[in-house]
Order: sequence, then structure tokens, then C-alpha cells
Amino acid sequence: MIVAIDGVTGSGKSTISKALAKKVGFAYIRTGSFYRALAYQAISNNIKPDDEPKITKMLQNTKIDADFTGQHVKICVNEKDVSDKLNSQEISIAASVISTLKPVRKYVSALQKQSAEIYPNIIMEGRDIGSVVFPNADLKVYIYCDIDERARRRKAQFEQNGEIGDINKIKNDILQRDYNDMNRKISPLVRLPEAFYLDTTSLSIEQCVDLLNEQIKNAKQHKN
Ligand code: DC
Repeated sequence: MIVAIDGVTGSGKSTISKALAKKVGFAYIRTGSFYRALAYQAISNNIKPDDEPKITKMLQNTKIDADFTGQHVKICVNEKDVSDKLNSQEISIAASVISTLKPVRKYVSALQKQSAEIYPNIIMEGRDIGSVVFPNADLKVYIYCDIDERARRRKAQFEQNGEIGDINKIKNDILQRDYNDMNRKISPLVRLPEAFYLDTTSLSIEQCVDLLNEQIKNAKQHKN
């Protein structure tokens, strides 16, 4: 069974998908990690994330290995573990730029398909999973959250890590990433009419997980 979870930046997608996967015993694949790893590799090689010729060349010499089974996602680029380097604002913005390039999407598409082949039941989370990667997914979900709440949660995360975040900058960065993701030519983020719409603004993670668990049960019944 394939569950496709898409949605806006900072809506809680990853946290909810991971907790849901644990609850139902499915594999969890966070596709944003692939784009983030490529953004990291580009920045490390002084390549601008929108420089298509150089990025295309970089892809030929880049091997990504991902392990989503542990407590934390483990991502290696050319055998180097970069897992703890992928969550900065710089990487977030660069990932949303690099993901607009056609060769990058092709490269990541292959990685996503490979990951899915290994497991019979998966929750795959990203921006184009229900629309492009698995249009025949058994369940499609679109996750949304109000922008003020998303900025508030991100600021709290920064503070937990001992960093100070400016709320207006955080808000603008999130909106910029939303804009990039929704307006790119290839595989933009779209809200599909058939997707279950989950607004996380005033819900706890547990409430979100319970709602999606119900949806999975319904989808299983339809499948049998
Ligand atoms: O989910 P995330 O924030 O880790 O994703 C990082 C960027 O990668 C996001 O701005 C858009 C891109 N992305 C994408 O284009 N398609 C996906 N399936 C997943 C992520």
C-alpha cells in the first residue's frame, strides 16, 4: 500500500508522516531529504543551485544513499554522512531552488522509485508524490497549516536549538519556499481534489496521526 503525503513547507508533514508510519508499521520516506542532500552537495562545491549545466554535471558524480529506518533519517552523499547538515535555512532555500531543475527531478525520481520497491507498505512524503511520483497511490493526503502558526512553530524550533529567529524573516522564507514549490514549471505542489485535506493549524500531532490512521483504515477496506 502506498500513502502519498504532500503539502506546504513547515506544515508538520515530516513529523506527522514519521509518527504515522511508526503507528501503522509502514516504511517512511522523506523525499525532501534527497533534494536537501543535492543542495548541500552543490553548495559544498560552490555551485549555485540554479546553475543547471554545472548541477547536471555534478549529478553524474553524486551518489546518494538513504536510510529511513532509524530514529533519524540517515543520508550519505558519496559515502559521507551529511544527515545533520541538511536542516539549515540556507539548505532549505537552496533545496527549493535546485528542485526546480529537470535533471534533478529525474535523478530524485529514480531514488524515490528504488526506495519504494524495497518496501510493500510505504508512506512517502514530499511535494509531488500524489501528483507525479505515485499518481495511483492508495491514499493521497494534502497537509496545510496557516502561515502565522508555521512561523511560530519554526521560531520555537530555532529557540530549542539555542538560535534566535526573526519572525518576519522566518515568515518570508517560508512564503518564498511555498512560492517556489507551487509555481515551478515541473511537478509543482498542487492540492489534488482526491487528496484528504488536513489542516494542522489547531491540531496536535497525535490528532493528525489519528485522523490519517482512520484514512488508512478506510483505504485498506477499499483495497480489499
Ligand atoms: O520537505 P522539505 O522541506 O525537506 O523539502 C525541501 C525542498 O525540496 C522543498 O522546498 C521542495 C523540494 N521538494 C520537492 O520539490 N519535491 C518533493 N517531493 C520533496 C521536496
